[in-house]
Amino acid sequence: MIDWRERTLTKGIVLALFLVFLLVATPAAWAAGHGKDKAPRKGVLLVTFGTSIPKAQKAFELIDAAAKAKFSGLEIRWAYTSKIIRRKLAKEGKITLSPSLALARMAEEGFDHIVVQSLHVIPGLEFDDLQETAKRFEGIPEGPSRVVVGLPLLSSPEDMTRVAEAVLANLPPERKPDEAVVLMGHGTHHPANAVYPAMAYIFGRKDPNILVGTVEGYPEVEQVREDLLKRGLKTAWLMPFMSVAGDHALNDLAGDEPDSWKSILTKAGIECRPALKSLAEFPQAVDVWLDHLARALKELDQGGSR
Ligand code: CO
Repeated sequence: MIDWRERTLTKGIVLALFLVFLLVATPAAWAAGHGKDKAPRKGVLLVTFGTSIPKAQKAFELIDAAAKAKFSGLEIRWAYTSKIIRRKLAKEGKITLSPSLALARMAEEGFDHIVVQSLHVIPGLEFDDLQETAKRFEGIPEGPSRVVVGLPLLSSPEDMTRVAEAVLANLPPERKPDEAVVLMGHGTHHPANAVYPAMAYIFGRKDPNILVGTVEGYPEVEQVREDLLKRGLKTAWLMPFMSVAGDHALNDLAGDEPDSWKSILTKAGIECRPALKSLAEFPQAVDVWLDHLARALKELDQGGSR
């Protein structure tokens, strides 16, 4: 039997141990909770326009794999900027996030330093919006202290030259030098549309039979057709100059509708050969995006806490 003395002693020991626990554990818990002495939780958000074509989606998987291989240990997330695509995919049960939703979720999960890497081709409207979104998230209460945005594929003359070389390295092997290659860019009303004529110039100096046109900007397919006829080119390989071979590549470029580029050029007497490989399928082009990501990560680390 334990008498009252022993009971009091036992209680005393338990209380003492509890006090010791509080003294030791609480400051550690506070420090962890406030994260002042810890390295910031770092994450990457890869942002693309998106695609609803499952085969084109595979190209994003290539970028994802390349990014994870190059930056192992880094948490990589995805977001789609196109609401139409997100809604289309949601109807099929595939949930994709907008950049703001993805950033909100990362904030909630405690990411303190985030790189938002644009997987767009040109710094156009989609990229402007992305920058604006990222800026709003930086420094929000309980959110990331730093958000750095990585540039799209074609953001400097060096990028443009590297991407031109990436395309040259990935042309269909059957293509002969006297056959044209017609690249279909997206095009835009944004001033960044100037990237397409710049690319046409760079390609022209490397291989004069490579022509660049756009679906929604300048140059248009009519100019491409005129140039093909002027040069007497009888055969044209049709390739998308876009991150993925999605709807524009399948329908506007190589579709059978009378207004597709294939139909328009065929009608002009040019034999068309679609080769629907996209920029995200060219490792040399993916490298350019990943170099932009590396630069943004460096900026993130150098900046420290703002
Ligand atoms: Co479009």
